[in-house]
Amino acid sequence: MQADPVQSPAIPMSARCDLPVLTEEQFAEDPHATFRRYRADYPVVAHQAGSRFVLRQADIERLSRDPRLLAGGTAFPKMLGVTDGSLFDAFEYGMLTANGDVHRRRRAPFSRTFAARAMAELRPVIRRTVERLIEEWHAAGHVEFVEQFAARLPAVVISDLLGLPQGDIPAFTRHVYDVTRFINISVRPEEIPVAEDAMRHLLGYVETVLDERRRQPRGDFLSVFLAAADQAGELSPIEMLFQIIILIIGGTDTTRVAAVMQVCLLLQHREQWDEVCLDPALIPAAVAEALRYEPSVASIGRVTTEDIDLHGFVIPAGTLCTLSTMSAMRDERVHANPDVFDIHRTTATRLHPVFGAGAHRCIGEALARIELEESLGALTTAIPHLRLETAPTIRGYTGIRRIDHMHLSWTV
Ligand code: HEM
Repeated sequence: MQADPVQSPAIPMSARCDLPVLTEEQFAEDPHATFRRYRADYPVVAHQAGSRFVLRQADIERLSRDPRLLAGGTAFPKMLGVTDGSLFDAFEYGMLTANGDVHRRRRAPFSRTFAARAMAELRPVIRRTVERLIEEWHAAGHVEFVEQFAARLPAVVISDLLGLPQGDIPAFTRHVYDVTRFINISVRPEEIPVAEDAMRHLLGYVETVLDERRRQPRGDFLSVFLAAADQAGELSPIEMLFQIIILIIGGTDTTRVAAVMQVCLLLQHREQWDEVCLDPALIPAAVAEALRYEPSVASIGRVTTEDIDLHGFVIPAGTLCTLSTMSAMRDERVHANPDVFDIHRTTATRLHPVFGAGAHRCIGEALARIELEESLGALTTAIPHLRLETAPTIRGYTGIRRIDHMHLSWTV
């Protein structure tokens, strides 16, 4: 672990509580550059929307385990002026925003299913799914990779895992992508009703599926989960609904963006793509480096319960904190040349910061890693001569980030 960041002598003590307030515009062009500029002098900055951004790896590591910071409950929707409705309820009843015993109660029914050992058994099945998707467009010699691969893989995998019908995938993934726009400080006011509508549809969809499983159990994950949850009596009906919704949301968009960016980054650094083609043992490191360099999830949200002194800068009690893992993963205190994409880095920490830390650390990490590794494995085997025609634009600096399109081609 790196040393604690030192206080910057350049900033006078009298001014240390006057944090710079960063605006949306400052992040629009190049969020990494903005983080880099401020990270040098400030461990924390303010954002115009009202939250504080913590920028350095050691501080985030420590604060994500500090009992004075809690998962945000409904603080985030309230900051955006959303005080009721289905989006609000997702924050009220989901595991991601809950604390203490409530969080444990909501997360526990899924821990065993998503444990690394259980997920490892799925690796061959996931590899076959990846290969099937590639076979669908391989003969064409070109593909729009986001829609034809990256969006489909995590949706198929999570549907298989939960036992959702494959035919439902296009509808529920559309709703998921509309909902995830909300889990982002940059959400535009006009996007909020769209996200609310999508969340209502998702809620209706999951409610119908759970009702069916209650009436006719099938021995799949959802039937087993419902029977166990009903028997234990620890989750209310609305909590059951929202945990499934959070799994679906957590399991799709995050991995979609990561699956695109890892291929894009490797192809933009062709010699590293070629190395992975020649030596599949490099795949886990390539996946980890892509997640560090251009993460699909940029931050973790918390709320302070007391004033927190961060190297002389005070974050007042009751403040919404954005622990910026995106900034931390390019922290010069941890990584030499952090703005260089290098799959041979030796500074990787045992726990990858992109999956968070503490009680809320991503429950789907093992699954996500397998999906990403098998994607690279199958692509580098089937199409080593892949070419990047159009790189995607990746936007956003909090929550789940957004991408548009990526066109690839190859000679058949
Ligand atoms: C590259 C892919 C992924 C990334 C980068 C990612 C990132 C994260 C992060 C940073 C958190 C912690 C948030 C916090 O502490 O507030 C989290 C939580 C969570 N993730 Fe993931 N995730 C990924 C894939 C998945 C997958 C595949 C699933 C589903 C199977 C999933 C389900 C969840 C759930 C349910 C939580 C909430 C855990 C809790 O609150 O206890 N994620 N994820």
